[in-house]
Amino acid sequence: RPMPLLAPSLLAADFGNLQAETERLAGSAADWLHCDVMDGRFVPNISFGIPVLQAIHRHAKQPLDVHLMIEEPQHYLSAFRDAGAHNLTVHYEACTHLHRVIQQIKQLGCKAGVALNPHTPVGVLEDVAADLDLVCIMSVNPGFGGQAFIPNTLRKVAALKELLVDCGSSALIEIDGGVTSENASALVEAGADVLVAGSFVFNAPDPVATLAELRAQLAA
Ligand code: DX5
Ligand code: ZN
Repeated sequence: RPMPLLAPSLLAADFGNLQAETERLAGSAADWLHCDVMDGRFVPNISFGIPVLQAIHRHAKQPLDVHLMIEEPQHYLSAFRDAGAHNLTVHYEACTHLHRVIQQIKQLGCKAGVALNPHTPVGVLEDVAADLDLVCIMSVNPGFGGQAFIPNTLRKVAALKELLVDCGSSALIEIDGGVTSENASALVEAGADVLVAGSFVFNAPDPVATLAELRAQLAA
């Protein structure tokens, strides 16, 4: 069983101390920093946008895994690339012309990801799977941190794994929402390659130690 990548979500960090929060993750078990962009339209919440991402990027040592929970993401892709995004993930439900958006992301030199809401079946990705670097399965309804993990996600991971193999896709499977040490092992067992964790990491007394413990648990 290969070691999954760990991507703590800065949504749960202290926004008043983003430099310190980013810097303390530099030497941690975090492989990517997950950045949740919300527009108050696609999701019922507003988080942060391009200038804040740019500020995070100035202090970050890990690649920025940017999750765009926004409508019409095609208008902002180059701005997010310029702000330091390494992975750009758009929502299937927000893209009428998803195929074009994926090509745009790749032309910008970023890794292309597509996220699926809990109600969206993995089969909708069949015709773009081979072009993707990442598929993000939402294990909560996007918009807020700290929500409960939706158990059906485990079945979805297994179904996506099968679809990716059938399509000859090497896309990574990322799980986002409600990830804790309780469900992490089962997710990796089912085929998850990247685990996003917000509140589990940042609400812990020592986020760096919590990431190290999660990594040790998954290595065992
Ligand atoms: C939800 C975001 C998630 C969220 C995860 O809309 O996309 O990345 O921050 O937070 P937790 O781990 O607390 O569910
Ligand atoms: Zn996210």
